[in-house]
Amino acid sequence: MSYTVLARKYRPQAFEAMTGQEHVVRTVENAIKLDRVAHAYLFAGPRGVGKTTAARLLARALNCEGGPTSTPCGTCRACTEIRDGISTDVQEIDGASNNGVENVREIRENAKYQPQRDRFKIYIIDEVHMLSGPAFNALLKTLEEPPGHVKFIFATTEAHKLPDTILSRCQRHNFRRISQAAMLKRLKEISALEKVTISESALSLIVRQSEGGMRDALSLLDQVLSACGNEPKDADVAEALGTIDRTLVNSLARALVTRDAATVLKHTEEVWNRGVDLRRLAEELAWWLRHLFVAKATGAAPEELADTDREAVTSLARDADAAQLARLFDVVHSGVWEIARAAQPKLALEMILLKALHLAPAASIPELISRVERLASGQSASGTGASGGRPPSAPFRA
Ligand SMILES: Nc1ncnc2c1ncn2[C@@H]1O[C@H](COP(=O)(O)OP(=O)(O)OP(=O)(O)O)[C@@H](O)[C@H]1O
Ligand SMILES: [Mg+2]
Ligand SMILES: [Zn+2]
Repeated sequence: MSYTVLARKYRPQAFEAMTGQEHVVRTVENAIKLDRVAHAYLFAGPRGVGKTTAARLLARALNCEGGPTSTPCGTCRACTEIRDGISTDVQEIDGASNNGVENVREIRENAKYQPQRDRFKIYIIDEVHMLSGPAFNALLKTLEEPPGHVKFIFATTEAHKLPDTILSRCQRHNFRRISQAAMLKRLKEISALEKVTISESALSLIVRQSEGGMRDALSLLDQVLSACGNEPKDADVAEALGTIDRTLVNSLARALVTRDAATVLKHTEEVWNRGVDLRRLAEELAWWLRHLFVAKATGAAPEELADTDREAVTSLARDADAAQLARLFDVVHSGVWEIARAAQPKLALEMILLKALHLAPAASIPELISRVERLASGQSASGTGASGGRPPSAPFRA
């Protein structure tokens, strides 16, 4: 049997199985229940977040033998044919390759006739923003007075390219990037179903890289599994994704916080020897510092992190100071571009990290101010009898 990629294998087969997008699902389900389904829908949003999936589910909901229903059976002929893309009454049209006026005229001609077997004739037009100007004009006529048995579902990643005349004749739903927490949960479910042993921390690396697109996340998981097998170790996953193991990133962040220059250099060397892109390391580190800062500012590590990562972040944030983290972040974050452009990335990274370590104040600003005030009033700065009016060892140089 041939291998089915995860994204296809786990395409949601019911509205309730869709991750994120609750706002869209709820409205569409209600419309079906109340028999108020619009004649044209526009599903807009980034790549791989469920637009085509939702369009097919809506088509099923409308044409299911037991429908219209918000819970199509999934087993009748209408449902299975729509799932397999072979329904005569539900046509999926790729707007990019059928973007001419003649293509729309064909749809218009065809739309006049009653559906062959099912309740509605449904046209799903993907990448609808690719239609030509004349094609849009031709479409407009049909959208204005559609026959009762016709429904349109348009999907696009670039809704801003649609003419207002089209937009105003559709019910628009904006699909969102899927939150990291929701995506992590879904990846855990799928890993369990696939009998894959992978840590939450490794999955969250995938989640971060997918930037809210579920298809991308599942493709990355495929990529990791084919590179590392069914029990991938964290470091292998990081390597397959071209990123860096979080244990190492956390250890590097700790070295910066504790001003341990030797460890900083040791880790840089390690990563360099492994052939990892050093810009990636800087990016990972900037993200990690961000997580630490969030933990410091809100009192809790970011929710999208895996439990083990959250523990690491919480514990390191406790030992760090907010001003120090802010400064470390600034230096590392602005260093990312410097490293990308550097003739000698390793040299650039080392200097950025050492600078960061040196510049970041170890104490909070109020604490520094009170030390300075105590010095000014002739008291000892540390309160332990140190004398001579020396400034704090790590002045804050903004
Ligand atoms: N909201 C979601 N919940 C669960 N899985 C999803 C979701 N969105 C996407 N997927 C997964 O990603 C795959 C692709 O989704 P889909 O084709 O619906 O995306 P799309 O928004 O139409 O993307 P494109 O803009 O590239 O056409 C699905 O088969 C499914 O596995
Ligand atoms: Mg699509
Ligand atoms: Zn059905």
